[in-house]
Formats: sequence, structure tokens, C-alpha cells
Amino acid sequence: YVRELLPEVNSVAKSGPLQLDNLARMVKAVVLGAAGGIGQPLSLLLKANPLVTELALYDIVNTPGVAADLSHIATPAKVEGYLPPDDGLKKTLTGADIVVIPAGVPRKPGMTRDDLFKINAGIVKGLATGIATTAPKAFVLVISNPVNSTVPIVAEVFKKLGVFDPKRLFGVTTLDVVRASTFVSEVLGNLALSKEIVVPVVGGHSGVTIVPLLSQSSHPLPSSFSKDQYDALVKRVQFGGDEVVKAKDGAGSATLSMAYAGAEFATKVIRAIKGEKGIVAPSYVSLEADTAGGSALAKELDTQIAFFSSNVELGPEGVVKIHPLGKITEAEQALVKAAIPELTKNIDTGVNFVAEAY
Ligand code: NAI
Repeated sequence: YVRELLPEVNSVAKSGPLQLDNLARMVKAVVLGAAGGIGQPLSLLLKANPLVTELALYDIVNTPGVAADLSHIATPAKVEGYLPPDDGLKKTLTGADIVVIPAGVPRKPGMTRDDLFKINAGIVKGLATGIATTAPKAFVLVISNPVNSTVPIVAEVFKKLGVFDPKRLFGVTTLDVVRASTFVSEVLGNLALSKEIVVPVVGGHSGVTIVPLLSQSSHPLPSSFSKDQYDALVKRVQFGGDEVVKAKDGAGSATLSMAYAGAEFATKVIRAIKGEKGIVAPSYVSLEADTAGGSALAKELDTQIAFFSSNVELGPEGVVKIHPLGKITEAEQALVKAAIPELTKNIDTGVNFVAEAY
């Protein structure tokens, strides 16, 4: 166990003085929707993470089997699986530090993420109520689509129940970031680089609201890259999910790449909980999470939008800083401008859904 933890200890140590209390902290991770296409591989990756000491899985079906299967893997996390009867959600959430939500219905060909809204909104609202009552201090990572609306739903439920902490609520947009790195590495003809390539992706998590800031890529695009090639690359990042929906031909949407991306973001959050400093990742957050950073970003965007995805610095209490977009090109400014009306509409849809339900 100690040997497995060493790389993590070293990375925490490099980031500043060791906070032993944080480092020794046990971490209970929860997956809601754990028996699904995303939920199962995500739970596998969390079970493989030596920083997780307890893993609780919840779904309306099959979690005892998934938990029994994972529990045979020789890593530290103790695994439990729960179903709705006998207060299963409450038992799952008791003592949770981080709750990842991939519960819901995936997209079928021809459906947009917003078509999913009605079904998934109800599921997320129910689960958010459970988290707010049992684990209000947990970090909540929302994967269920449409993320642009489901994150405001969680926020509104938490507000209604008087426990909203904007620093602890995150929409998982990491798949867009992972796709951008992969697609840029393909353009550069070097897939081996994909792990190193960092492209901030800002805005939201659906179609035109996804804005890759390719001008800020750690590895610049070739100078010969034409406007048409640029437009095609932006479109591929924005609508990458459609490639998977089409290829799966009715069998669902991205699950394996999403599980990878979800585990990557969850691991960053866990490392931050454990005291590692300077972890920055794009995520869709409430601009109230860092009022100074949020208003600087709102000023840049020239709008009072409530949620936006930007580079966010994480700490043991959640969001430390929301980074502004910084210097972006005219083309990127146009993409941000196009994203805002759609994003605003999506946020209102989520907020209204909860207002009508109470
Ligand atoms: P899936 O249908 O394979 O799995 C969903 C799971 O949620 C099922 O096991 C189902 O039983 C469970 N579930 C349904 N209602 C529940 C409830 N009330 N409580 C607990 N569990 C419940 O779907 P998949 O492919 O895993 O996708 C899940 C969600 O993730 C969808 O909304 C999908 O659109 C979204 N997604 C998000 C992405 C992102 O980048 N944020 C990328 C890909 C998918």
C-alpha cells in the first residue's frame, strides 16, 4: 500500500509542505448510477485508485453484483453496493467525501443532450436531494446530461435545502478536454503526445457551448493549419460525442472514454482534498464559487451568467480560484459569444425545473 501511495506522496510533497492530516485522510468515493455503461468502468477505475479507501456503489439495478466483482481486486478500497430498498441511497452516501453521478439515460441516435432533459432532470433532482440530506459537504461531480442544466438542478436543490456550497459542485467536462488533447495529437501526427497536450475547453458541455481554446494549446497547431481545418477541428471537439453515438448505432453514447475522463477529474479532486496544491482543471462551476474570479470572468464574458466552464484551481475545500479565459483569438471570442445564449437557456431550464417542482 505504501509503495502504491509513494508517487502520490511525492506529488503532494512537490507541491508544498506536507499536510499530514490531509495526506492520511481516508476518502470515501460514491458512484450513483454505478451499474451503467459509464458507472461500471468508472467504478473500476476508482477501485484501482490507491487514494480511495472506501467505494460505495448505488443504482436501481445490479450494484450488489458489480460491487462483489470489484471487491476481489487487490487494492485498498472497501467496496459496497446498494439498491434503493432499505435506505440504500442513505447508506451509500453516509460519510461520502466525493460523489460522482453518471445516473440517467444516455443519448440515442438523433437525440440531442437536451432531449434527455426531462428524464435525467428528475433522476438528478432525486439524487441531489439524497446528497443534500445525507452528505451535504461532499464534493459533487455531475456527469448526467445535459450537464449545462443538471448542475444548476443540483445547485437549486441544495439551495432549497439550505446547504449549497458553490465551491463543491462540479459539472464534469473533462471528456471534452480529453477529446481536444487526442484530436490535437492526431493533427500533430503523434498520438504519444496526447497525454501531455493540454487544451483548455471552456463554456458548457453541449454542442456550440463547448469552446476549445486551441490558441492556448500547450502544443500549437501547425502554422499551415487552414481556417477550414480549424473550423473542422472545433466542430469535432464540440460534436465528438456524435461520432460515438453513431458508431454504437443505438447501443448508447460514450461510456469508456467518459469513465476515463470522469476518473481523471475525480482523481484531481481527491488529490486536492488530500492537500496537493496548484491542481488546475477545466470544470463547469457556479461563478459564485470564487466571487472575485467569477466576476472577473463575467466581466470578460460581458454577461452575468451563473455557470460557466473555465480552468479552476482546486483545494481541500473545493474551488480555490476560477481562472479568467485570458488572451483568446477573435475566432474564439466568436465561439464564446455564440455559446452564451444557448448556455443561458440551458441554465434557466434547470433552474425552472426545480422551481416548478417545489
Ligand atoms: P446507462 O443507461 O448505461 O447507465 C445509466 C445508469 O443509471 C443505469 O445503470 C441505470 O439503472 C441508472 N439509473 C437510472 N435511474 C437511476 C436512479 N434514479 N438512481 C440511480 N441510478 C439510476 O447510461 P450511460 O451511458 O452510463 O450514461 C449515463 C449518463 O451520462 C447519461 O445521462 C449520459 O448522457 C451521460 N453522459 C455524460 C457525458 C459527459 O461528458 N458528461 C458523456 C457521456 C454520457
